[in-house]
Amino acid sequence: MNSSTAQKLAIQRTEKSRIDQVDFENLVFGNIFTDHMFECDYKDGGWHNPIIRPYGPLTISPAAKVFHYGQAVFEGMKAFKDDQGKVWLFRPEENYKRINKSCVRLAMPEFPRDVFFEALTTLLKMDKEWVIPGQGNSLYIRPFVIATQAGVGASPSTEYKFMILMSPAQAYYTGDVRVEIAEHFSRSANGGVGAAKAAGNYAAQFYPTNLAKDRGFQQIIWTDASSHEYLEEAGTMNVFFRVNDTLLTAPISDRILDGVTRKSVIALAKQDKIAVEERRVLVSEIVEAAKNGTLKEIFGAGTAAVISPVSAFSYQGQVYELKKPDDSYAAKFKQELMDIQYNRSEDPFGWRFEVC
Ligand code: COI
Repeated sequence: MNSSTAQKLAIQRTEKSRIDQVDFENLVFGNIFTDHMFECDYKDGGWHNPIIRPYGPLTISPAAKVFHYGQAVFEGMKAFKDDQGKVWLFRPEENYKRINKSCVRLAMPEFPRDVFFEALTTLLKMDKEWVIPGQGNSLYIRPFVIATQAGVGASPSTEYKFMILMSPAQAYYTGDVRVEIAEHFSRSANGGVGAAKAAGNYAAQFYPTNLAKDRGFQQIIWTDASSHEYLEEAGTMNVFFRVNDTLLTAPISDRILDGVTRKSVIALAKQDKIAVEERRVLVSEIVEAAKNGTLKEIFGAGTAAVISPVSAFSYQGQVYELKKPDDSYAAKFKQELMDIQYNRSEDPFGWRFEVC
């Protein structure tokens, strides 16, 4: 179901902005939120009472199904301010479609398109001052849906809350990322929820990622659950391997998130006449390429992380260091993406969405 609420968006403004209290030079990712948030409730088969109100706590039953059965999905998107002070979103339609796909997979109701875009653009207009200009600065936007019906019966909730929060952001990873290739734990399996942006997918990664962190690695590159022979994605990012001058990345499947940055990198590579292969990538071929010097780069691609170069990977106890090449594809795609996002270049793909 994707019915409109047909209700007017209510607006309650904060009496006093908190913006003066924020140290925009030293932001930790995702810790500070803007003055307002959006909220809309699902009940009796429809979405009701869309409202933008001051950011603040919720009152919710401790029996809400989200706490017991994890019916929760989210999105990550970004707004950018250009040098003329205009605010832009990057490919918002993709996030809108994906949150609904995630909802369907978790037996949750879809959200109406018109309400999503009205809420998003109104919120951005109200909190425009929180979008800081300059390369590397952005406003990270977090739409999410949770099951709110009180009851511990193990069945889909009949009530939900859709919300949007916004958080001023700089880099997600400071510096290059060292990764470990998964040999035991798995992120997702055939027929599972790996392709959905389900909150539980992230919870399940925390324990193995903590173990990897104790060994000096920030992220895990997940492999297929059945054989651990094929490279899939890196938890908060999709992942690309450059062997000689060809880019390799795992194809989208029901185990892998259909990343917006991933598909943008593929489109940019095609435009730049760089060969891209979306195919299953064996761990052994990447290890071999690292050994024979043909592995030039590994980089992650995601909304929060943008493009994050991987400086080393570990497999079977062996660490392979990667030197940044002079003609880095990671650096090139990051610049090309940012030039489009900050309205500094042509937008041949129509990815920019003007807000205000
Ligand atoms: C994003 O890039 O939006 C993500 O989903 C990463 C997030 C878990 C911080």
